[in-house]
Amino acid sequence: MSINLQIKSFEEYKEKYAKSVADPEGFWSEIAEDFLWQKKWDSVLEWNFDEPKIEWFKGAKLNITENALDRHLAERGDKLALIWEPNDPKEQFVRYTYRELYERVCQFSNALKTKGIKKGDRVCIYMPMVPELTIAVLACARIGAIHSVIFAGFSATAVSDRVNDAQAKMIITADGLNRGAKQIPLKRVIDEALATCSSIESVIVYDCLGWDISMTENRDYWWHDVVKDEAKICSAEVMDAEDMLFILYTSGSTGKPKGVVHTCGGYMVYTAYTFQNVFQYQESDIYWCTADIGWITGHSYIVYGPLISGATTVMFEGIPTYPDAGRFWQIIDKHGVNQFLTAPTAIRSLMAYGEDHVLSYSLDSLKMLSSVGEPINEEAWKWYYLHVGKERCPVADSWWQTETGGIMISGIGNLSPMKPTFAGYPMPGIQPVLLDQEGNEITAANVEGYLCIKAPWPSIIRTTYGDHERCRINYFSHYKGYYFTGDGAKRDENGMYRIIGRIDDVINVSGHRFGTAEIENAINTNKNVIESAVVGYPHPVKGQSIYAFVVLDKVTEDALMTKGEIVESVVAEIGKIAIPEKIQFVTGLPKTRSGKIMRRILRKVAEGDVSNLGDTSTLLDPAVVEEIVANALI
Ligand code: PRX
Repeated sequence: MSINLQIKSFEEYKEKYAKSVADPEGFWSEIAEDFLWQKKWDSVLEWNFDEPKIEWFKGAKLNITENALDRHLAERGDKLALIWEPNDPKEQFVRYTYRELYERVCQFSNALKTKGIKKGDRVCIYMPMVPELTIAVLACARIGAIHSVIFAGFSATAVSDRVNDAQAKMIITADGLNRGAKQIPLKRVIDEALATCSSIESVIVYDCLGWDISMTENRDYWWHDVVKDEAKICSAEVMDAEDMLFILYTSGSTGKPKGVVHTCGGYMVYTAYTFQNVFQYQESDIYWCTADIGWITGHSYIVYGPLISGATTVMFEGIPTYPDAGRFWQIIDKHGVNQFLTAPTAIRSLMAYGEDHVLSYSLDSLKMLSSVGEPINEEAWKWYYLHVGKERCPVADSWWQTETGGIMISGIGNLSPMKPTFAGYPMPGIQPVLLDQEGNEITAANVEGYLCIKAPWPSIIRTTYGDHERCRINYFSHYKGYYFTGDGAKRDENGMYRIIGRIDDVINVSGHRFGTAEIENAINTNKNVIESAVVGYPHPVKGQSIYAFVVLDKVTEDALMTKGEIVESVVAEIGKIAIPEKIQFVTGLPKTRSGKIMRRILRKVAEGDVSNLGDTSTLLDPAVVEEIVANALI
């Protein structure tokens, strides 16, 4: 495969876009021709959004790893597939050519098979950002096992929830991980999680830190032991285009995180297509996305999209501020990175250190910049464009979601016009609409509405694991005939979209997604708590932060200690990433007479905007609001 799915001009984008809307099947089948299929499809697309039932490339057979590895061997066998940069700059980086990566993946695939893993089994992966994480993901895909990567910051309870929901047979983990100056245990978390997971038969442990850890006999195996006698070739399992490729858990506005399911064929086509277009990757470029593979961005734009396209992808173990706030820029110069993708929260945190760090590096290799995960404010956009891109590099703000599998609305390399804070244009094949509250499409220019998508694209969510009805209710029942994103957006006179943020009870903290109910449930596990309500509020670095209003069963004698215990409950249930920045004890929550919490009021209090709280007369107890306002933590 060559990198030949690229649009070359904005005019061509407009033509392709028009074709993709007029004839989606013709458009996508032409693109799909560029991939390696063991058998071509019987039909390109069959769908309805009512059940929902969405099938792309039905009847086709493939293995995504043959596209990401095998077919590059002839022409790109010696090309670098992966560059791994360690947490500590003094440590040696690691590079794998496509042939080396292929061999490692095959070897580990054989090890998985020896341990009894077969097609359709679920394998959870809870690992540091080391090459073995990419190898584990690809090895699962090669043998048809369904991977479920769990971000290595989640707690034992969060891990066991995910393992149990997926009824996973195996966990792949490490002794611990490096994160800046800290080392964080992982296997200990797994041991705790496994106390409540009966489906797990074996654990493979990668030796990342050289720690002496406890290993349970006949359950736990070292990575280096399981691979040592395995062959470096392994035939790829034949997968149906609609067979599950992976599950990735993400938070919604209700209940526990749900397992978003992506399938093999459509996900492959869409991630490669968008990778090649958004980043305008050229054959000898070095591409770097700073996300963690624990999230969808890492799946689609560190592993699958780049490797399917034959690109060189960089993987970084550490954090932007270790050993100093110049670490990202140093890595760009060190490896000659051409395309760079990061999150607004990282840009804002580095901005806070001033320009000196970024100005000490040349950054000459950069050709384009991109941002993902949350709205990018104008100040951060300008800093990124000016100091990192030196006004030479376009900034593509890409909007998408775990459920969409790939980038939906974005700038396209240096082809499309840029406008700070606007994500840009829909990718070919994506038909966004803005709806009003009644579900009518708003077609005028310069309008705001609920962002929905009118027709399926190849990497759309297929189901939520084990509970299809949940998928229907969450995404396809709000407005009949549309995929509901949960985001609000604005469209300007040129058809560019600006994402305003979530309109449901989802909070986005440093690009990490949480449901308010999920955090409230965690807080409520504390024995002193009667109930709680959580809202997001703007934060200068994290984008949003968490504010918790908590009702205790009796007045606390030591507020600080009780807050500490509540924080511990959140850490135990979810992980440190979900700790509320502010906790306010209240004697009651503002509720309607039917018992519904009026979050609108709490959001205003958290934002520090208490001048106009709107009509509070419908509340069960309006006096509660006065007390909350008087004691607000602003
Ligand atoms: O609210 C939007 C925000 O992140 C949500 C999706 O989160 P997640 O599934 O974790 O995926 C993040 C990485 C793709 C969206 O509903 N979001 C994502 N990208 C942007 C964004 N908000 C504004 N601008 C973006 N570029």
